[in-house]
Amino acid sequence: MEKVKMKIPDFKKFREEGKKYTFVTAYDYTTASIVNESDTEIILVGDSAAMVMLGRSTTVGITLDEMIGFIKPVVLGAPDTMVIGDMPFGSYNINAEQAISSANRILMETGCDCVKLEGGETVAPTIRRIVDAGISVVGHIGLTPQTATSVGGFKVQGGTPEGAAQLIRDAKALEEAGVVAIVLECMPSMVSKAVGEAVSVPLLGIGAGPYVDCQVLVTQDLLGMYNGFKPKFVKHFAGIRQEMVAGLNRFHEETLNGAFPSPEYSFNKSVEIPKLY
Ligand code: KIV
Repeated sequence: MEKVKMKIPDFKKFREEGKKYTFVTAYDYTTASIVNESDTEIILVGDSAAMVMLGRSTTVGITLDEMIGFIKPVVLGAPDTMVIGDMPFGSYNINAEQAISSANRILMETGCDCVKLEGGETVAPTIRRIVDAGISVVGHIGLTPQTATSVGGFKVQGGTPEGAAQLIRDAKALEEAGVVAIVLECMPSMVSKAVGEAVSVPLLGIGAGPYVDCQVLVTQDLLGMYNGFKPKFVKHFAGIRQEMVAGLNRFHEETLNGAFPSPEYSFNKSVEIPKLY
């Protein structure tokens, strides 16, 4: 069946229909085109590019220009898939004008469908201003990697009654601010279920258990390509890293034993070579 690109109003439809969907990351044209060929509804060009693509130890530090550079080829590679562009740390925390200007740049320079930014109650007023400027926004609460150091590192959030209450307050504030959906990252399943009961916007969960509308994973994690830290919520649905290493080793072996390139992979036209040596 031909893939029909998910549109912003479809976020509501999915929740109303109780339909599950998936959303994964991509940071380059080729991967985006592979995701586009799959049934996946949404691609996030996440600031996780800082770690997965640039080899850094944190997402803090990736710039707006670098993010735009990653988002552009993904939009080109995935014409039938919704693309969300992540707003990097430092691109929305000065004031609402800065946030609107950064979101404008992401939309106008890349052609992606909407932006995502991290934070709950405290960021909600900024999100309201971006939404009022005509830009669709996806929120992101729970474990927010850009500010993870302030909550003691990459840890499950909402594990206490106060923590769970704060997540519910954050989700309500984001809903009131007009987000089209909220990413819930790394929290007990019971807490994401309670958040889902408190708000009516769709919930996109990564490490947030089964009671969300959409499951999110980093493509390099779910396909078994990334060899860094593997969180508990990451399932390998393929072993692409081993496949790639095996393919590279076959290339190496056949080069050494002369099996490659055979005539099939060579230009075999006969040419009269002038005697110059
Ligand atoms: O940057 C990212 O990849 C993300 C997802 C983990 C949701 O924010």
